[in-house]
Amino acid sequence: MSERLTRINMYIKEIDLQNFRNYNVQKVQLDKGINIFYGDNAQGKTNLLEAIFLCSIGKSFRTNKDKELINFNKDYADIEISYEKKDRSGKINLRIDDKKRFLVNNVPVKKTSEIIGNIYIVLFTPDDINILKNGPSKRRRFLDIMISQLRPKYIYSLNQYNKIIAQRNAYLKQIKFSDVNYNLLDIWDENLSIYGEKIHNYREEFIKKIIDKINYIHGNITNKNEKIDIQYIYNFKDRKDFLEKLKNNRNLDIKTGMTNAGIQREDFVISINGKKLNLYGSQGQHRTAVLSLKITELEIIKDELEEKPILLLDDFMSELDSKRRLNLLDLMENNQVIITCTEKGVFDKQDINAKYFYVDNGIIK
Ligand SMILES: Nc1ncnc2c1ncn2[C@@H]1O[C@H](COP(=O)(O)OP(=O)(O)OP(=O)(O)O)[C@@H](O)[C@H]1O
Ligand SMILES: [Mg+2]
Repeated sequence: MSERLTRINMYIKEIDLQNFRNYNVQKVQLDKGINIFYGDNAQGKTNLLEAIFLCSIGKSFRTNKDKELINFNKDYADIEISYEKKDRSGKINLRIDDKKRFLVNNVPVKKTSEIIGNIYIVLFTPDDINILKNGPSKRRRFLDIMISQLRPKYIYSLNQYNKIIAQRNAYLKQIKFSDVNYNLLDIWDENLSIYGEKIHNYREEFIKKIIDKINYIHGNITNKNEKIDIQYIYNFKDRKDFLEKLKNNRNLDIKTGMTNAGIQREDFVISINGKKLNLYGSQGQHRTAVLSLKITELEIIKDELEEKPILLLDDFMSELDSKRRLNLLDLMENNQVIITCTEKGVFDKQDINAKYFYVDNGIIK
């Protein structure tokens, strides 16, 4: 027990909510180790994880509309999170009204993306199964969130890239309807290729890291019955290749009013025993592959940081059989873990040391 505690470094000490979602005024003091929030459906368990996610990634995992985060009857919401790191304490404040404003240790943050890198988290939700099931945007988002936490330059490049794409697309639409000069496109393309290549290189680096780890992790979960492969589906090889694609696509781009090549077209595919999961995978195989992918994410973040990330498990354990549940808890012995579930009993039977919180209609006891 003491061994476990001394090896933990980063953890959230306290969360203060005001008018956030279904909370009025709520203070929660967390344990350094495992914290379990249990209660009926629709009581505010996921809302609490959402507040933590917001203060570490800068946006919600459920909505892009900030207004939804404010209690129905109020016109602002406040979140304050105090945390301890290996060598210092810190505090994040978020005020949501007509916009979002963050403070780190009482100092205003200029851009929302700059909030990333203070509190490191890995979130597991039942919704994760859609990473491998649905279209590529969830997979790119998965990569983007993981890489952003570890490489601040990645967020910068991604933001620049998205800005340029928006400008370029607006310009393409102008060209379509009026006789403006094409040559300006060369300038957008040049800039796009610079940031595009950077993003591509980071993604390639991290897909390699995933490849290095995932097969071992997946083997453990499936008793070595399944071999898992992951393949990066890139849109271009390097900057020169990207520029060439942009040139070749120019008529198509003008016709469609959008940019048809680039990192916004990238993806990755997972195969199990040589067969593509999205085409042939069973429900159970999807679930297991997602679990492997998320554990791989956790292990990569652990490797890269001196601080252990905080794990947010939203109703995730109930999806797993007890063997997988214990395996997962084993991996987490050094992290702060925040778990939500409807049945406290799921954990009572297992020999774990945890602090329990009962969540009842926006009140945590
Ligand atoms: N802006 C808001 N103001 C007030 N209440 C809100 C707001 N947004 C969501 N809620 C309420 O919060 C509740 C949902 O909370 P949450 O998603 O945290 O539930 P949960 O405890 O995780 O439930 P489940 O076990 O079903 O996942 C709902 O009752 C919803 O009406
Ligand atoms: Mg929930």
